[in-house]
Amino acid sequence: MRYFNDEMIDSLGVDWHAAADVIDEAAQLLAAKEFAQPIKPYLRYGDSRNRIIAMPAYVGGEVDTAGIKWVASFPGNLEQGLQRAHSMTILNEAATGRPLAVFNAARISGIRTAGVSASVLRRYLSRDGLPDSWKVGMVGYGPIGRLHLRMIGELLGDRISSIVLYDLRGISLEDVPEALRDQVTVAASWQEAYKDADLFVTCTVSSEGYIDLAPKAGSLLLNVSLRDFTPDILDHTSSILVDDWEEVCREGTDIERMHLERGLQESETLPISDLTTEAMQALPSTEAVMFNPMGMAVFDIAMAAYYYRLAETQDVGLTLPD
Ligand SMILES: NC(=O)c1ccc[n+]([C@@H]2O[C@H](COP(=O)([O-])OP(=O)(O)OC[C@H]3O[C@@H](n4cnc5c(N)ncnc54)[C@H](O)[C@@H]3O)[C@@H](O)[C@H]2O)c1
Repeated sequence: MRYFNDEMIDSLGVDWHAAADVIDEAAQLLAAKEFAQPIKPYLRYGDSRNRIIAMPAYVGGEVDTAGIKWVASFPGNLEQGLQRAHSMTILNEAATGRPLAVFNAARISGIRTAGVSASVLRRYLSRDGLPDSWKVGMVGYGPIGRLHLRMIGELLGDRISSIVLYDLRGISLEDVPEALRDQVTVAASWQEAYKDADLFVTCTVSSEGYIDLAPKAGSLLLNVSLRDFTPDILDHTSSILVDDWEEVCREGTDIERMHLERGLQESETLPISDLTTEAMQALPSTEAVMFNPMGMAVFDIAMAAYYYRLAETQDVGLTLPD
């Protein structure tokens, strides 16, 4: 069995187009129903802010791998100088259940998350009438925000005209990739990052929605942290995308609040498995497009399987004795 940690994953690097391809393929397998994924249980005890989530899945097609991610979120860790999220992923051989690999690596989970955003962004980029130059806004600049900025830098490249970042704890420019530093402004409020953004991303740990202003018409909102918008966003857009309605319409997410307070129904949203470029094109160009991903185990297993195979070609990882 192979073992991987963050450092080993980092040595393999991230090709964000390849990561988006992995997610595209897994989304096609979702559409073809070549997967198994029970709803994920949340383990809670003690401080209600904390949770550990079990995320099992089987991914069919050429991926043909099973596994589970076991991901712990303890927001108070940051005050103790520890990372908020710890994540272990186990891959099993599909035919026998034999464990193939274990990833003690929050990074692989982060690459999956930004990879899902990359897959949606690429489909969004196929729309007509997009701006030549892009204003990017982001709130929350922890590990997930940083991976998103790297991904956006690669996918949008020269098209980025400005990047406005806001984090409650402040942001040091040293933590911004050098190639993007000239474009970055560190804002003093979420409003500065949000207003006028063509692409806006939430990567906070907010427990309740607070964004109550209209988004820029035609913009893309990647609501990665899921609890930043008030249900009033429905006054400004009807283009609501989700990864999976059943998963995301619970646990106090913005989608659950839109459902409970504004009557949003599953049939009024578009799941990632139906998000073809044609479906993306058909969304009204005058409205923002808002993507709300709860995080799906099939994407974790597909991404870990991709890295497992990539590591084999470069002899990265450690073999553990049986
Ligand atoms: N949807 C998914 O698939 C998915 C997957 C992984 C992580 N996430 C979510 O992404 C978020 C970020 O993850 P992380 O590991 O970077 O977390 P983190 O706690 O390490 O970092 C979060 C950052 O956001 C800042 N922040 C918190 N509240 C804020 C606010 N209201 N405004 C501005 N900044 C704020 C914090 O200061 C911190 O720097 C978490 O909410 C996590 O649950 C979502």
